[in-house]
Amino acid sequence: MTRPVDRIVMVAPVDAILQASAPWPHVRAAVPEDIPWIAGAVWDAYPQRPPYEPEWDDVVASTQSMFKNEAGDFMPVASPVGLTEDGEVAGIVTVVQRCTLRDDLPDAPYVLDCITLPDHRRTGVASGLIAASARALKAVGEREMALTVDADNEDALRVYTRLGFVETMRRPASA
Ligand SMILES: CC(C)(COP(=O)(O)OP(=O)(O)OC[C@H]1O[C@@H](n2cnc3c(N)ncnc32)[C@H](O)[C@@H]1OP(=O)(O)O)[C@@H](O)C(=O)NCCC(=O)NCCS
Repeated sequence: MTRPVDRIVMVAPVDAILQASAPWPHVRAAVPEDIPWIAGAVWDAYPQRPPYEPEWDDVVASTQSMFKNEAGDFMPVASPVGLTEDGEVAGIVTVVQRCTLRDDLPDAPYVLDCITLPDHRRTGVASGLIAASARALKAVGEREMALTVDADNEDALRVYTRLGFVETMRRPASA
């Protein structure tokens, strides 16, 4: 069985994100019609290990619940789907205004998912989508952005650190 890992809560000023990366140029707001492929991307992207061991139906249900504001007020304007120049989907960042899934998360807009589809990784999609989201958040007066990442997710940690995210809290694997 894969062992659980620490989870790191990180926060970045939106201005720092915008200094570090240009917003991805081709974006549209995420809509409920995106649920099937988002659920598929989540299923493929995140390792299954305690305490995260969902069935497929659970992943679909949690993706649906995001659009029903059950994780906090969903912000379509700050939840860009990234497209290639040909209009192909390359990745997504989804954001709620304040995450209500736990009571110890930062008082800031919160990234629920940040996923680049495998064929499009390492081309700046995730950085650009977080920057696109930061630009939208700045436009409505938000100053920061928060997220949680597994401590062994080196690819994500490098991207987030480069964008100015810093650790504000660590949830031990045992918690
Ligand atoms: C983590 C993840 C979102 C990163 O997405 P990504 O689109 O590959 O990220 P970026 O392209 O913005 O940055 C990744 C690297 O590519 C590099 N890069 C960006 N544009 C590039 C380009 N045009 N050519 C070459 N390299 C490039 C970046 O500098 C960065 O390098 P570094 O890792 O050495 O710092 C992606 O690996 C993923 O979807 N993983 C599975 C889901 C996941 O774990 N999500 C995070 C949950 S918290």
